[in-house]
Amino acid sequence: MQYNPVETVRQSIRSISDWPKPGVTFRDITPVLQDPRCFRMLIDIFVARYMRQRLDLVAGVDARGFIIGSVIAYELNLGFVPIRKKGKLPFETVGEDYDLEYGSSSVEIHTDAVKPGQRVLLMDDLIATGGTLLAASRLLQRLGANVVEAAAIIDLPELGGSKLIKESGLPVHALYEF
Ligand code: PRP
Ligand code: ADE
Repeated sequence: MQYNPVETVRQSIRSISDWPKPGVTFRDITPVLQDPRCFRMLIDIFVARYMRQRLDLVAGVDARGFIIGSVIAYELNLGFVPIRKKGKLPFETVGEDYDLEYGSSSVEIHTDAVKPGQRVLLMDDLIATGGTLLAASRLLQRLGANVVEAAAIIDLPELGGSKLIKESGLPVHALYEF
C-alpha cells in the first residue's frame, strides 16, 4: 500500500510516445482524474500549499487548467477565472498570442475578470515551453492583477518553460519534473 500522496499521484501519470506528433512524449493526467483517491490527493496537495496564502482568485488555463484550477478554487473558497482559447468568451476580452511545443495558440480573458491589485494563483496542468502560462500571466497583469504564483502538476524542464517563467519574475511551482 502506497501512503505517499505525491508519489502515488506521480505513478498515475501516463506517458504516451509520439503523440500528438512524432518526437513528443505526451504526459497524460486523465488516469489521475479518473481515480477518485488520486484526484483528491492531487487537489489536497495544492490546497495544502495555498491554504495559508492570501489569495483572491484562482485563474486556470483552457482546457486542462480548468479541471484542477476550478476544484482548487472551490476548496480554497475562492472564485475561479477561466483564461480561454481565442473566440470562446462572450464578453469584452483582451488576448495574447503564444507558441507551444507542438503549434501556436492565443488565449483571452474577460476584461472584468480581475480587479486591480487582486492576488491571483495561476494554474495549469503542465509547463512545456512556458508560452501558455507566460501569456496567461501577461493577461492577468494587463488587468492589474498581482500573480502570486504560476503552478502546474508537471514541468518539462528540458523545454525551458519554468526557467523562462522564473526569469520573467513570476514565482513558479510544479509537483513533478519529467
Ligand atoms: C497544453 C497544456 C498547457 C500547455 C503547456 O495545453 O495543458 O496548457 O499545453 O505548453 P507550453 O508550456 O508550451 O505553453 P494545450 O494548448 O495543448 O491545450 P489543451 O489543454 O486544450 O489540451
Ligand atoms: N502540452 C505541451 N506539451 C505537452 C506534453 N508533452 N504532454 C502533455 N501536454 C503537453
